[in-house]
Amino acid sequence: MKQVMKRRQLLKNFSIGSAGLLLPEFVFSQGIEKSLNELKIPQLLPGVRKDRQLHYNLAAQSGVSKFLPDLTTPTIGINGDFLGPTLHFKNGDDIAMHIQNNLNEETTLHWHGLHVPAKADGGPAQVIGVGKSWDPSFKVMQKAGTFWYHSHLLGKTGEQVYRGLAGLIIIEDDESAAIQLPSEYGVDDIPLIVQDRRFNQDGSFRYAGMGMDIMSGLFGDTILVNGTLSPVFTPTTSKVRFRLLNASNARTYSFAFDDGRKFQFVASDGGLLPKSVELQSLELAPAERAEIVVDFSDGKAVNLISLPMAPGSQFAPRGMMGNMRAMNNQAFNILALQPQSNLEASQSPATNLTSFKRMQESEANRTRQLTLSMSMGMGMRGGRGRGGGNMMSGMFQINGEAMDMNVINQRVSVGDTEIWEITNDSMMMHPFHIHHGQFQILDRDGRPPAPQEMGFKDTVKVGPGQTVRFIMKFEDFSDAETAYMYHCHILEHEDNGMMGQFTVS
Ligand code: C2O
Ligand code: CU
Ligand code: CU
Repeated sequence: MKQVMKRRQLLKNFSIGSAGLLLPEFVFSQGIEKSLNELKIPQLLPGVRKDRQLHYNLAAQSGVSKFLPDLTTPTIGINGDFLGPTLHFKNGDDIAMHIQNNLNEETTLHWHGLHVPAKADGGPAQVIGVGKSWDPSFKVMQKAGTFWYHSHLLGKTGEQVYRGLAGLIIIEDDESAAIQLPSEYGVDDIPLIVQDRRFNQDGSFRYAGMGMDIMSGLFGDTILVNGTLSPVFTPTTSKVRFRLLNASNARTYSFAFDDGRKFQFVASDGGLLPKSVELQSLELAPAERAEIVVDFSDGKAVNLISLPMAPGSQFAPRGMMGNMRAMNNQAFNILALQPQSNLEASQSPATNLTSFKRMQESEANRTRQLTLSMSMGMGMRGGRGRGGGNMMSGMFQINGEAMDMNVINQRVSVGDTEIWEITNDSMMMHPFHIHHGQFQILDRDGRPPAPQEMGFKDTVKVGPGQTVRFIMKFEDFSDAETAYMYHCHILEHEDNGMMGQFTVS
């Protein structure tokens, strides 16, 4: 058994080094007095090879989880009580999925970030009825990277993901297998599914009420990493790769270490960057991923934390939204890291990782403009949509319309390259996500993206008042009937109308 320190002891040693970062205060109620729990690692599911296909058997099911010391929490998960296994694919694999819905409610399962045919995408149109199953198949056409899967049920995505319907996908390719990066799953290649939750007195999750929970998206006061409360991980090697997934409904994290140590950022949503980028902090909005490599060779214990959003941040809420409780103005612990005493020396990680060309504006066949907006207050400007079918639908719009299953909002010609220009006409940041593939960010308010945003992305932060342009190729699959989605990945916004549909044909 590992030696587990009380968090109170850790707090005594807590300080920020030469970095000049703000000293975080710990405001979260849960977990402060409690002992640390060993970080859970989701099981790695490699699939079963049969007739040139890789077969995966998944079952959505309900269960009971133990997060809190004395209480249990009703949860849902895939092949387990909460969250799901990590699916491991290789570029080029032919995947055959079998998903059984053992819940007593409908659901869907969407492969976030994967380039798959619309019929296999698992969006709101591919509902899996109670007791039914769904068998999509697709070829992995993707460079190595970290992706995820989650429920995408119309109007219920936020609630189902909150209760546990999400998991990680790791894709490898020949190139990623050949470069020097920590890659032993669960040993020096560690998934971190970061989520915030809040609990009722009886231990059950407390999901969205009305008003603020929907306006800002749902913020919790307790962090779970891979479903572990107050987690600690014990590095056994001098270098560790972490695959960070922000699987929270609404919270943006500013990841950093409490001693100010720097780390190598090696991959964004869509895979490896050409070169690693040294960073001291990293903001991830809901659905964004990052792979980072951290050096533990000094043997010192350190905490992965989230810093308060810098006051002048381009992503900070404005106006009356700026006063909303708890948005991103707190610092708190994410994960304690307590290296073992004799660390195995890791090879030094590669700095040149991959190569791809930056797409040029001149390659685009057309530009589409989308405006994200929120009407303050309920039902002031009800769109014609029937987003979640609840009172808040119509509060969130794209181009003035709320999500409507009966409306295809955009039709893209297959083979085209397009620029999408996303304008945020509201007081808070929205992480804009598009299905079907990966894009490259051209600019944000006319300025080129930072180095860590130069790679492939499927989700991009659009700050209040900002305009982000990205460029994307819509190729390979043609289907005039079945739509892909684009939406804000704050799940309460998505569920209440900030989503649209597009076809590629
Ligand atoms: Cu992460 Cu439309 O999904
Ligand atoms: Cu997606
Ligand atoms: Cu939003």
